Amino acid sequence: MGKCRSLVWDGEGLVLLDQTKLPREVVYITCRDHGQVATAIKEMKVRGAPAIGAAAAYGLVLGAREVADRPDFWDALMDVAATLRKTRPTAVNLAWALERMLQRAQGSRNNPQEALKLLTEEAAAIAAEDVETNRAIGRYGAPLLPQEGGVLTHCNAGALATVDYGTALGIIRAAIEMGKRIRVYACETRPFLQGARLTAYELQADGIPVTLITDNMAGYVMGCGLVQGVVVGADRVAANGDVANKIGTYSLAILAREHGLPFYVAAPCSTIDLATPDGEHIPIEERESTEVSHLVGIPIAPKGVDILNPAFDVTPADYITGIITEKGVVKAPYAEGLAALFRK
Ligand code: MRU
Repeated sequence: MGKCRSLVWDGEGLVLLDQTKLPREVVYITCRDHGQVATAIKEMKVRGAPAIGAAAAYGLVLGAREVADRPDFWDALMDVAATLRKTRPTAVNLAWALERMLQRAQGSRNNPQEALKLLTEEAAAIAAEDVETNRAIGRYGAPLLPQEGGVLTHCNAGALATVDYGTALGIIRAAIEMGKRIRVYACETRPFLQGARLTAYELQADGIPVTLITDNMAGYVMGCGLVQGVVVGADRVAANGDVANKIGTYSLAILAREHGLPFYVAAPCSTIDLATPDGEHIPIEERESTEVSHLVGIPIAPKGVDILNPAFDVTPADYITGIITEKGVVKAPYAEGLAALFRK
């Protein structure tokens, strides 16, 4: 398994790099039933939109194995899919992957062994395609970055957030492979610290120059001219181009506009949801208040204080310079551009 590959199927179970332990410990866990996969997604041992899609696909394979002997096989498999689907609501890749899996096996709903074979093949295809997709996003995105300079990113949209290579960080990797001299400024990304714990870790592991900043330093970094643009990932792109991504992304988009900097979103087509008309219709996950009241397990706020902990926010399409997909770069007007991607 590559140093920052998020998951691998070992033929018996789904091996996950436990992202809650990074960067202090590199620990792999093996999920042997769908319940363990659902818990791993919920607890963010695996996280990032494409990674949870691929993990859920394998969760369905494990679930199919568990219910293969039941006379109500297909109904039981629907329950497995529902359990996996409700683990995290915002990233649409999760529902997309499960839907794709069920469609593949549906013709064999009365033949569990055949369905299991098809589901295993489809999960492997989803995982393999994800890496290819990220490389294509990298090829489209890298030319948009300066020959030399700084790029700001938020959360972790790298190898760890996908199966491997990454979307936003895939663009950085591709730019560096092209010979560009890029330094990444990584926002720490409170409260879960994906930037500090994961982005800084995976870029450092690859020898890519990275400077870690706290989230409230972004305006300073832009004002000083340290970055020439922003590249982030996405959890769901609505039909009108509004983008849900990690909480704090919206503020960065406004800052970028104020500083005249391009603001790019890297997203595979599996993150684009034409059935969701706009950002207002994207469900935003609320997480445990202890993520805010505590820092690495230590309380940092008065006991009992009211806390808000939305895991994502929505950046209106108007602030986005371009959405970089594996099929090309979409620019405003987004409704037409995004719809056209699916006709390609
Ligand atoms: O809560 P997380 O860590 O799953 O949130 C992840 C993000 O917001 C990423 O930017 C997004 O999923 C894109 S990953 C290629």
